[in-house]
Amino acid sequence: MATLGFIGSGNIGTNLARLAVAAGIDVVLSNSRGPETLAETVAALGERARATTPEEAARAGDWVMVSIPLAAYQQLPVAALEGKVVLDTINYYAMRDGHIEVLDSGRTTTSELVQEHLAGAKLVKAFNNISDFHIPALARPAGAADRTALPIAGDDAHAKADVAALISRLGFDTVDAGSLAESWRFEPETDPYATPYSADPDAMRAFWAQVGEALRSGTLPQTPPPVDQGVPLPAARLRTLLADTPRKLTADRVVA
Ligand SMILES: NC(=O)c1ccc[n+]([C@@H]2O[C@H](COP(=O)([O-])OP(=O)(O)OC[C@H]3O[C@@H](n4cnc5c(N)ncnc54)[C@H](OP(=O)(O)O)[C@@H]3O)[C@@H](O)[C@H]2O)c1
Repeated sequence: MATLGFIGSGNIGTNLARLAVAAGIDVVLSNSRGPETLAETVAALGERARATTPEEAARAGDWVMVSIPLAAYQQLPVAALEGKVVLDTINYYAMRDGHIEVLDSGRTTTSELVQEHLAGAKLVKAFNNISDFHIPALARPAGAADRTALPIAGDDAHAKADVAALISRLGFDTVDAGSLAESWRFEPETDPYATPYSADPDAMRAFWAQVGEALRSGTLPQTPPPVDQGVPLPAARLRTLLADTPRKLTADRVVA
């Protein structure tokens, strides 16, 4: 019996938990406020789901999905994640997470920072470049002609192969984008980030421009993100986007 643990059970975590349950994988959820706050989510997911603490979710998982704000990464349970294959969905937003100089300067990547903290785990960056609402919209069974590809990056070849097989069960193809040092290629606002999965990329770009403008003027963005059905992104196109994208450091981003 396969089990996927979750540390962080918000927008990304719950969408992926739904796909896992549909694929016959047990899920063990956790968050910062305690398992009782996940009772409704667990009930909606059904018999394959339960909730516990982050430490127990880490121990229970054959793989562990880490899907929390970057600001909390040092709270991840190091001992419980020792030796585990960890999928890291985390993105860096200085406005949310506070400025981190080694990321602002490009001296390291978000996932290298998390891997440094989780020294005994095998980290694979995944699912960070797709919007939460595009996850259910674009998941397809293996072999479907319109399957969407997602990038993965990591320093352990076996862990990457393992994660690619898991992601295929969840409904997506994968493209190997290289090591964690190379994972900037699909960090926020790079070419492979979010927009290519959108049926209306212009609306998506306009939304982010609006958010950036609002943040710069010290107000909160008023418009909700454009929700569309998404558009499949084939592996060959994703490979090109990964190869050709410029790096986007904090200072180069519309929303940081
Ligand atoms: N939303 C997207 O479309 C999207 C897409 C790609 C990547 N991402 C990235 O993926 C990560 C999660 O995004 P999200 O949208 O799912 O966020 P979210 O909806 O705010 O959920 C965050 C989850 O993390 C939990 N959490 C926070 N601190 C924790 C801690 N110290 N220990 C355990 N759990 C903790 C929260 O639990 P509590 O509620 O109990 O605090 C919550 O369940 C972020 O880094 C985000 O940038 C998001």
